[in-house]
Amino acid sequence: MDRNDLIRLLEDMSLEEKIGQLVQIPGSFFEDDFIITGPANYINYTGEDLALAGSVLSILGAGKLRAIQKRFMDNHPHHIPLIFMADIINGYRTVFPIPLGQGAMFNPQLSRECAAIAAEESAASGVQLVFSPMADLVRDARWGRVMESTGEDPYLNSVYTKALVEGYQGEGSDNLRAKGRVSACVKHFAAYGAATAGRDYNTVELSDRTFRDEYLPSYKAAVDAGCDSLMTSFNVLNRIPSSGNNYVMRTILREEWGYDGVVISDWAAINELVTHRIAGDEKEAAYLAINAGVDIDMCTRCYCGHLKELVEEGRVDERLIDESVLRVLTLKNKLGLFENPYRDMDEEKEKTFILCDDNRAASRRAAAESFVLLKNDGILPVGNGEKVAFIGPFTDTRELNGSWSIFAGSEDNMTIEEVLRAENLDYVTAKGCRFGADYPLMGMGGADQFDELSPEAEEELLTQAEEAARGAEKVILTLGESNHMTGEASSRGFIEIPRIQQRLLRRVAAVNDNIAVVLFTGRPLDIREISDTAKSVLVVWQPGTEGAGAIVDVVTGKISPSGKLPMSFPYCVGQVPVYYNELSTGRPYSAGNDNKFLSKYIDIPNAPAYPFGFGMSYSAFDISEVRLDKSVLSKGDTIKAEVTVKNTGSVKAAEVVQMYIRDEYASVARPVRELKGFTKIELEPGEERAAVFDINEDMLRFTGADDVYRAEEGMFTVYIGNDSTTENEAKFELV
Ligand code: BGC
Repeated sequence: MDRNDLIRLLEDMSLEEKIGQLVQIPGSFFEDDFIITGPANYINYTGEDLALAGSVLSILGAGKLRAIQKRFMDNHPHHIPLIFMADIINGYRTVFPIPLGQGAMFNPQLSRECAAIAAEESAASGVQLVFSPMADLVRDARWGRVMESTGEDPYLNSVYTKALVEGYQGEGSDNLRAKGRVSACVKHFAAYGAATAGRDYNTVELSDRTFRDEYLPSYKAAVDAGCDSLMTSFNVLNRIPSSGNNYVMRTILREEWGYDGVVISDWAAINELVTHRIAGDEKEAAYLAINAGVDIDMCTRCYCGHLKELVEEGRVDERLIDESVLRVLTLKNKLGLFENPYRDMDEEKEKTFILCDDNRAASRRAAAESFVLLKNDGILPVGNGEKVAFIGPFTDTRELNGSWSIFAGSEDNMTIEEVLRAENLDYVTAKGCRFGADYPLMGMGGADQFDELSPEAEEELLTQAEEAARGAEKVILTLGESNHMTGEASSRGFIEIPRIQQRLLRRVAAVNDNIAVVLFTGRPLDIREISDTAKSVLVVWQPGTEGAGAIVDVVTGKISPSGKLPMSFPYCVGQVPVYYNELSTGRPYSAGNDNKFLSKYIDIPNAPAYPFGFGMSYSAFDISEVRLDKSVLSKGDTIKAEVTVKNTGSVKAAEVVQMYIRDEYASVARPVRELKGFTKIELEPGEERAAVFDINEDMLRFTGADDVYRAEEGMFTVYIGNDSTTENEAKFELV
């Protein structure tokens, strides 16, 4: 179809049919027979709502979806196919590390490959659009959804959102029609990650300058990469929730960025305009949302229940509805659904491609690359006939997927214990304790996950752990957050490991202090006690299907860790939000300055425990002084900044070389430094290579005091090193 065909189709549709295209229904309504015999679930969709719907959320399976699609189209007045959408976040059945872990890879190309696999697997099961990437900038470790972001840096996030969109959608024109591709939906527009106090769905207070310069770039990168849909966020911005926010949805998105793709509300977010108390009822909510240009209403009856009446009353111009419908039809057409409504649905491929060896190998590789070595006083790697005990609640569990892996079963994963056995590694194992959340938890489905043991059973596990530790030369202690402690609606006020695990750490340390902690987590944690007690600390996030194998690969030295923190690990929760690219303040603190009246705490340090960009390896690297090919940059020109990186250790390993730039003076307060480039270099022992970065005026832009987005002339400092605290610098002037 071409655009004229779509317009003709639109002209032929009744108002009810048109509104139907703007309605997204949860999959549960389509699972059984198509007959709705009354109020179903908690949303009272009518039979007509279901018969005219435009898209469906969260059901998968080639056979099932083909049947639903056929039945639906046969009964639809214009035989318009549904789009099947789903939360494929870090993989479908082959699960990759959580997005925060992928950020730690500092390897967007590898994420692109993971996204392409996720696209092909889920497309075989009938999905045509995935609700990923989440482009939200995150600075508050209390917020449960930091696991779904690639971290605290606008540049890193932008590079990743672009890579993920390209991974899902492929590149080039007509890409969405290609086999194995799905459409990507960037979310949550905008600034959902800035929830006050890290409490999910909470108020966002943000200056326009910070919003534009730091929060918006990663969404924009997804849009520029060709993302065809975008999801609103739950939060207010400037006191107006996104789904009714004209400034965000019209002025910025449609007018400034020229975005002409689909906007979908987040789950029930249009209805929530009522609970936000900016709409008196559902009808007013629908009025606000359609005016803001929100095309699809996810999981409420605001649009199907009220848009018709609003048009008939003359309050909503039917042309507004037509614009939205045309955008939805255009997306369906880009996906080729009018020619092939079943697209890639393929039961055979579901059997052969999903979880195939190649996909699993990619999961293992990505997991290993995501691990971050925070400390290593001689414990890792283990091997060479050493007596090693693997202890801890993550040693015998298959629960290695993040909380968004809602379609993947943990039964497809191996435990660390099983991998050790399969690889004939003769190590002792002990559970030590349960995951042990200190409060009841709910999974995505809402089920209560509180795991309690009797005091006797608890004591027995701890005693077994002590025995295992006593007989070993080294202990690998697996500790951390279970996946139900992170993700949506999982904000935490205390960001430590559960108390029972703290007890395990102390009991083991009392008998053996050669401990390496392998830390599972969906967020930066307060790990003071772990850092003080263990000689080595390896962060493994929630690593996915092949996570256990990857842990064994890294712990035994087959692979040297190369991940870097995409988010600062705070000293304690009192510092949060703590991030490297903060502003200077008028009274900056520096170590050794004993003036009282400085921007600091009297009881804790300013610096995080482990900064952004930090991560060690089993080797060591030497990074030379920064060389600039010129010291004056004129607009339109480029400076080359270069260092030589040498592997001075004894094993092959990769280093992430990072370039930060500091704008010395400007008309508005600027971050102390900002990441502007990075490259991951793998080197043999003794090998050296140059890392070269281009610097141009574009990269130095920001919103100035006059609200114009441009670079201001003056002095800049370039830092190149292996984390965000490097002082390896050179200076240049922009003229
Ligand atoms: C989440 C979105 C998700 C949607 C659909 C919402 O609760 O905020 O990220 O895509 O549900 O499942």
